[in-house]
Amino acid sequence: MNELARELNSTLEGSVAYGFLSSVGKRMYFPKGITAQSAEAGEKAKTYNATVGLATSKGQPMHLGDIMGLFREGVFKPSEIFNYAPGGGDKTLRAIWKEEMVRKNPSLAGKPTSGCLVSAGLTHAISMIATLFVDEGDVVVLPDLFWDNYDLIFSELRGARIVTFPFFDGDGFNVEGMKKTLMDQDGDHVRLMLNFPNNPTGYTPTRREMDAIVKAIVEVADSGRKVMVISDDAYFGLFFEPETASESLFAYLADAHENIFAIKGDGATKEDMVWGFRIGFVTYASKGLDKAQLAALENKTLGMIRCTVSNCDRPGQSMLVHAYREGENVQADKARTFEEMRRRYRRIHQAIASHPQTLLRAYPFNSGYFMAFDTTGHSAEQLRRHLLDDYGIGTVNIMDRTLRLAYCSVEEESLEDLVDKVYKAAEELWS
Ligand SMILES: Cc1ncc(COP(=O)(O)O)c(C=O)c1O
Repeated sequence: MNELARELNSTLEGSVAYGFLSSVGKRMYFPKGITAQSAEAGEKAKTYNATVGLATSKGQPMHLGDIMGLFREGVFKPSEIFNYAPGGGDKTLRAIWKEEMVRKNPSLAGKPTSGCLVSAGLTHAISMIATLFVDEGDVVVLPDLFWDNYDLIFSELRGARIVTFPFFDGDGFNVEGMKKTLMDQDGDHVRLMLNFPNNPTGYTPTRREMDAIVKAIVEVADSGRKVMVISDDAYFGLFFEPETASESLFAYLADAHENIFAIKGDGATKEDMVWGFRIGFVTYASKGLDKAQLAALENKTLGMIRCTVSNCDRPGQSMLVHAYREGENVQADKARTFEEMRRRYRRIHQAIASHPQTLLRAYPFNSGYFMAFDTTGHSAEQLRRHLLDDYGIGTVNIMDRTLRLAYCSVEEESLEDLVDKVYKAAEELWS
């Protein structure tokens, strides 16, 4: 094992995170190689800096004018578009994201967390977390309605075993089922992944449910188990009901218990409507992690970034910093999008309420971009095909028992018709 990895491990030993480290996680470190040396040279090499593999002229990267011309003249320096971004992301972007994270999650105020490291989108963030903290044969506990990429990441990439519990108990989140499933696992390290607003259901726990989730996880931690909780906050902020919890689970778990290791994956991709920019973030916290240990986790994540994508999209980061810092319409544009999504949410709720919940039963939903139907024992794939072939309507089948509608991409005035047709198609097939 590399000496640097050994050092990081000895820093982490005895902490809540240490026992979760996979074999890759244990081997991981950020090498003192080219990037570390060129960062150092950037500070100190005042005459020539011959470290970075990048063609520069007059201190700026050389570039294709045709590409630069795509951006409005005078807005960016070439270095803000064409340079490599630093390994963990643009420092200003990271600082703004962290500040915003606390503003959006007031319960985080004063709680120590790692810095927010930039990933190449949230998928990359989750994949890195899985590589660092999940080994072959480990169990990852999930509610049974989850984003399908988790399967690919945890089961296929990492060789882990996904164990699920029913997402809903009646109309609410199944807190007891979650707790029981965590308690039922063998071993003293359990891993839990939760995603709110949820894909595919569009459900976020109410404030009371969120309190109950935190209490349940603390009880599991009290039993002596170490609990790693990954919060996937991809659709954070799109909460449409006043009783819905509007802070991330991460904010409550960050200092809840020495045995709880909280990880937050989030991203500008959806929150700030820059899907194609591929900019996500990873943040760590625990009552059981001191400053040096949080820094060691950051370093391991830097190593993961380095060996997967090297560094992340530079133009996107510069554009975000520019928009956050100087943009006059960022908040207004976000608010306008939120209002539009809320109108669609209300409209589709009304449309669904006018149909009997027999062949298709809508799962509870209150947030995000989606809603989903339980196809009550019938084939969701059959319905998806029928809608596509005979109505020209595209929907998503999940595990042949759930049909997902992304109402975020259908105009408000078309939602009633969409819902009518989905119910009609189900009747044609199954009644
Ligand atoms: C629940 C969930 N998490 C993560 C992601 C990944 O987001 P990104 O585009 O930033 O990789 C998605 C994207 O669809 C998602 O639905």
